[in-house]
Amino acid sequence: MSFINWESEKYSVSNDVMDKQHMQLVDMINQFHDFLNQGESKDALKIILGKLRTYADTHFKAEEGLLGKYEYPEAESHKKLHEYYITRLGEFEKAMEKAPCTSDVMFFMKDWLLEHIEKEDKKYSEFLKTK
Ligand SMILES: [Fe+2]
Ligand SMILES: [Fe+2]
Repeated sequence: MSFINWESEKYSVSNDVMDKQHMQLVDMINQFHDFLNQGESKDALKIILGKLRTYADTHFKAEEGLLGKYEYPEAESHKKLHEYYITRLGEFEKAMEKAPCTSDVMFFMKDWLLEHIEKEDKKYSEFLKTK
């Protein structure tokens, strides 16, 4: 059993590209979870965290492009939420240079992402259905 199980009914935003990118992010968080549980080195964890941040940034840019294209009214505030996640991940990465990695990082990554998909991404998903 994975740390996060992808449930289409719960998380799908009815856009294949966005869904695939969300699944990829979930996979990376699961990998981080496995590494943490297996006692992998901090360097290995830091590498995954860095990859996750980079991929999240790629996904957010793609999503923001989509929202801009269809003139989603909440595009600007949605972008701010994305920026928050990237900033926090960067801070965690920095903190890992000085202190051991704890499960806080993992829970933050998971909770924020799933809540964001379920609340915020689903909102644009409903909007795009009207386009
Ligand atoms: Fe989003
Ligand atoms: Fe998203």
